[in-house]
Amino acid sequence: MSEFIKIGKSDVESTIMGLGANKVGGHNIFSGLDDKDGYEVVRTALDDGIRMIDTAFAYGNGRSEEIIGEVLKDYDRHEVTIATKAAQDDNNGYAPNNDPAFLTKQIDAALKRLQTDYIDIFYIHFPDEVTNKRDAVEALVKAREAGKIRAIGLSNFSLDQIKEANIDNQIDVVEDNYSLVYRSPEENLLPYLRENNISFVPYFPLASGLLTGKYERSDYMKFPRFTEKQFGDIIGSIKKVRGLAEEKGVTVAQLILAWYLKNPEIAVVIPGARKADQIKSNAEALQIELSDSMYKQIDQLFKF
Ligand SMILES: NC(=O)c1ccc[n+]([C@@H]2O[C@H](COP(=O)([O-])OP(=O)(O)OC[C@H]3O[C@@H](n4cnc5c(N)ncnc54)[C@H](OP(=O)(O)O)[C@@H]3O)[C@@H](O)[C@H]2O)c1
Repeated sequence: MSEFIKIGKSDVESTIMGLGANKVGGHNIFSGLDDKDGYEVVRTALDDGIRMIDTAFAYGNGRSEEIIGEVLKDYDRHEVTIATKAAQDDNNGYAPNNDPAFLTKQIDAALKRLQTDYIDIFYIHFPDEVTNKRDAVEALVKAREAGKIRAIGLSNFSLDQIKEANIDNQIDVVEDNYSLVYRSPEENLLPYLRENNISFVPYFPLASGLLTGKYERSDYMKFPRFTEKQFGDIIGSIKKVRGLAEEKGVTVAQLILAWYLKNPEIAVVIPGARKADQIKSNAEALQIELSDSMYKQIDQLFKF
């Protein structure tokens, strides 16, 4: 049985592991995807104790939401937490648009694709340059009052933009890039979220596969975010995690996910999966008992 966590000031409850669904129908972002795998990934997640799904209009321009909506017809909707996002304006080259009327229209469109009458968490996917942040959030407050969404989220907003958007204390959750190899949110963002009762959902928890242990030093060109030296240090630390994982009889990815699951700053961990066997294996991290000392050891291994 999976543990649950409350999202921000809302009454939404989510399992502590979710499915990151950008590879479910996300043909516009990734090559070589097959919808059949997408259906199977969602079903496997739901069958294996992952009852939260993180999707977005941007993943396949609605295709991810459609696949999830189809699969959900075979499950009890009330037992699943659906998070989706919007902002990309398909009439303007997918540029971010936070205009209240546009966001309201996007919520209605997402409800149709998901074949549901409510969305548990709705995020503004990206800030735009022109809309007053308070006005954008007000549109979501109205959607919440109308019962169309249950919790309000922001994604890819800077800390200053989050503060501006949260002026009326309406934000429940923030989703941003964070992982053991990208820790800058720890400095300023996470303390603000904690003080304001805003949940945190990190994206790229496996650093796009790097933290599963399947890459070598020679792969550094595939991760241009890091210098060759930084990449080498990360690979060195992952080798040490492999040693710890072998001691416990688990995989590198499972141990890394267990670290996030134990981290009190993180509400929901949303690893992505291309194939059902990946999410099946990742779901097993829910069973790992990570000792305080191993938690600290892993933490230190990724402080460079
Ligand atoms: N809000 C935003 O702007 C934003 C941005 C990015 C992502 N997200 C969300 O965050 C979620 C997670 O991000 P992500 O999926 O891009 O990256 P991720 O979770 O860091 O990595 C997922 C990738 O890791 C590999 N993987 C996963 N489990 C594995 C396993 N057991 N064994 C081996 N490899 C495994 C797969 O790579 P291969 O493809 O190589 O098999 C998979 O595609 C997304 O799905 C999406 O929902 C949100």
